Amino acid sequence: MIDGAIPYLRCPVCRESLTREGRALRCARRHSFDMAKQGYADLSAGRLSHTGDSAQMIADRADFLGAGHYDFIATALTKHPAGSPVDADAGRSALDGGLVLDAGTGTGDYLSRFLDASPDATGLGLDVSKPALRRAARAHPRAAAVLADLWRPFPIADDSAAVILNVFAPRNGPEFHRVLRPDGVLLVVTPAADHLTELVTGFGLIHVDPAKADRVADSLGDRFQSVASSTHRHEMRLTAAEVRTLIGMTPSARHVPVDALPTSELTVTAAVTLTAYRPR
Ligand SMILES: C[S@@+](CC[C@H](N)C(=O)[O-])C[C@H]1O[C@@H](n2cnc3c(N)ncnc32)[C@H](O)[C@@H]1O
Ligand SMILES: [Zn+2]
Repeated sequence: MIDGAIPYLRCPVCRESLTREGRALRCARRHSFDMAKQGYADLSAGRLSHTGDSAQMIADRADFLGAGHYDFIATALTKHPAGSPVDADAGRSALDGGLVLDAGTGTGDYLSRFLDASPDATGLGLDVSKPALRRAARAHPRAAAVLADLWRPFPIADDSAAVILNVFAPRNGPEFHRVLRPDGVLLVVTPAADHLTELVTGFGLIHVDPAKADRVADSLGDRFQSVASSTHRHEMRLTAAEVRTLIGMTPSARHVPVDALPTSELTVTAAVTLTAYRPR
């Protein structure tokens, strides 16, 4: 549902606040943005650097996540001690009633799991992929889905988010900093060096840069301070069909020849680094 997120949303043209009128969001200057019948709002103002994950990639991602192979990532996110910053004065979680922004939300699965663990929070998933947003808009009753390019100014008010989730998706350090509350936390998940290593060596999957963690820190600039980092691994026993689905949801989908794919079960390592950042 978009309604819970509307107070945090801003007009992408003039930065005024938005109200809902039927199936459109409008600002006081009468800029108007349609909501798709699938429930997501288009706040891109027509400015997109690209169209994001294809319908097939998103379908593969939904299947693979639905089978539970990456549940350990959702668990790591929801159980992260920094995920619910405690407001000592108020004696409660600072996340209560706050906004959880998922930047590059895909199917919205991680946002949904995070909201399940945060009963009073409101969710907002941003993505450029329409097939992704169609799913993200239905992912959770407290989650809104918005079409917006992470490389452009976000259609979100300053100091809005208690938590920003960023899982295998682009990072915009200046915008993350602008929209994150001063007491908020940014949780970034990136592939570790041995993520899907059996597929990289066996089937030519695109190799993850081992220096990726350093580049993440660089991309966030000096606006954020890393406060905790942990690596999470899980051995996945996958059928041949699941391996194909997994490859399909990665950027390698178009590069791995079908006849090179495995024909029997395979054990594949999933390994990710989860880093929590506080704004400076
Ligand atoms: C690898 S997927 C990860 C999706 C989700 N976080 C997950 O882990 O299941 C990357 C996502 O980022 C989105 N994306 C890529 N570039 C983007 C951009 N410039 N702005 C918004 N979303 C973008 C893609 O459409 C895709 O849904
Ligand atoms: Zn406006």
